[in-house]
Amino acid sequence: MNEIIRSLTERKSVRAFEDKALPESVRNAILQAAIDAPTAGNMTLYTILDITDQNLKETLAVTCDNQPFIAKAPMVLVFCADYHRWYELFRRHVDEVRKPSYGDLLLANADALIAAQNCVVAAQSLGVGSCYIGDITENFERHRELLSLPSHVVPACMVVFGYPTQQQLNREKPRRFSREDIVFENTYDEERALSMEQMISTRQGIDEDEALDTWVRNFARRKWNSDFSVEMSRSCKEIIDYFCGED
Ligand SMILES: Cc1cc2nc3c(=O)[nH]c(=O)nc-3n(C[C@H](O)[C@H](O)[C@H](O)COP(=O)(O)O)c2cc1C
Repeated sequence: MNEIIRSLTERKSVRAFEDKALPESVRNAILQAAIDAPTAGNMTLYTILDITDQNLKETLAVTCDNQPFIAKAPMVLVFCADYHRWYELFRRHVDEVRKPSYGDLLLANADALIAAQNCVVAAQSLGVGSCYIGDITENFERHRELLSLPSHVVPACMVVFGYPTQQQLNREKPRRFSREDIVFENTYDEERALSMEQMISTRQGIDEDEALDTWVRNFARRKWNSDFSVEMSRSCKEIIDYFCGED
């Protein structure tokens, strides 16, 4: 196993950080990894907000579904899908310019997420832990104002970084589904897709039907029927409208 593959295998989310700043060289290497990521049409359809203001971190810790560890992270990056730059450039040079739309949003979102993942991988290689914060796509109206986002710029994800505590280093990485259950050859395998009970029972080590049923019910309560996921869907509609809407 080479170093990169080992690093990918060993990476796990880190949610408790040592009270230790990241050296400037490490911060720069993480940010440069974003810039070097693949990007559609080499357009770099994203902006990274490097959140250094402690008050802003503390606010985001609340607005992103009350996750206090966000405020304790020495490095906090918000990755925004951004067509503002290019759209304004096109408007300055091209006679008839269509507004950014759904396809542009998906492409810019993909760009932003790929850049974020490059930062995660670079950080891991430097001994720096990280955790994605999907909840940055909630409360869009508040985040738009807090981050001064112009039209056609919307948050795709947030990632927090820092040196892991010993407890985090010792923590076991959550188990994954098996590759055979996730990778299908050529076409979608509906039968396999519907074998979720089996997949979960293997991953979670649950043998009894009743225990599995309880696990699924609890999971749905926390992750599907939860307030945060309802808010995320509401907020993401606003995100789409803002990205694709008027200037
Ligand atoms: C898009 C995305 C959003 C996430 N949002 C959060 C979050 O808001 N809070 C959190 O603690 N973890 C968050 N995570 C981390 C996942 O919970 C974590 O990746 C998953 O449980 C697997 O664990 P591992 O990263 O340690 O392997 C997010 C991960 C992704 C990819």
